[in-house]
Amino acid sequence: MIKIFKLKNIISIKDFEREDVEYILDEAAKLEDIAQSKEVSEELKGKLLGLMFFEPSTRTKMSFETAIKRLGGDGIGFENSGSSSVSKGESIADTAKMFEGYCDALVIRHELEGVSKFISDIVDVPVINAGDGAGQHPTQTLLDLYTIKKEIGKIDDLKIALIGDLKYGRTVHSLSNALGLFKNIKIYLVSPPELRMPQEILHDLNKTNVEYVVADNISEVIDDVNVLYVTRIQKERFIDIEDYLKIKGAYIINKKMLEGKDLIVMHPLPRIDEIDTDVDDTKYNKYFVQAANAVPVRMAILKTLIKNNPK
Ligand code: CP
Repeated sequence: MIKIFKLKNIISIKDFEREDVEYILDEAAKLEDIAQSKEVSEELKGKLLGLMFFEPSTRTKMSFETAIKRLGGDGIGFENSGSSSVSKGESIADTAKMFEGYCDALVIRHELEGVSKFISDIVDVPVINAGDGAGQHPTQTLLDLYTIKKEIGKIDDLKIALIGDLKYGRTVHSLSNALGLFKNIKIYLVSPPELRMPQEILHDLNKTNVEYVVADNISEVIDDVNVLYVTRIQKERFIDIEDYLKIKGAYIINKKMLEGKDLIVMHPLPRIDEIDTDVDDTKYNKYFVQAANAVPVRMAILKTLIKNNPK
């Protein structure tokens, strides 16, 4: 049976069905050799990707740039509103319209939830949400799932601990929603009381029959998981810096805690102090592999959206 990918835009992982996720993961696996530069591709020759980054990024922006270039295309854009005419008062809508004129697809990161959706409603080219405030980060989730599948062999039957800032961390919001598409999932939600997973996501987990357990400490869950998914406390989302300082350093994973465990450690990065650097040289470290997996996964996304929606 020929598989098709139905979505034109990637705004929220909640728009995906399981077969959509599997389509992108399968395409990414086929693109691994090109992603690692063992082969060249001209599949998107002449195509231009617009990168509108109103918030800082290292991995997402660089991996999208790498992905379009590995497919024979190129990328243009800005990495903060200060280097665009938004700083002179131009609206986001007008800015997006300019990019639409130049580009075949747009990648948007913004500190406000809903900006990618807003832009997708006013342009005709595909729009990809590269993180909107504390909302969603759907392409991060696709590369997280790709990493889990590659490292563990499957996504069904997973026991995963999401650790750290579950309130503001968009990656754990998207990942929780995505895991609702798979079977027999158990999620441990490990956070300080102030940074618990939002009720809306818990409601989604209930709706999709995902079992979840709220916990305060890593020691309560570490013996029962396949994956420790660690996140940073999102300092930039706190209104009062004192509140951040009280919580900072609440969870730190180190090599000693992991000895003898059958699990992998993932992190969307950037890391501040949540994973001690002594874990970097162990078999548990999958966070750098996870970051590298962004390239084939984002290549799969760009190839699919741009080829399915020619200008
Ligand atoms: N994981 C992630 O979104 O990293 P950046 O903020 O560096 O893009």
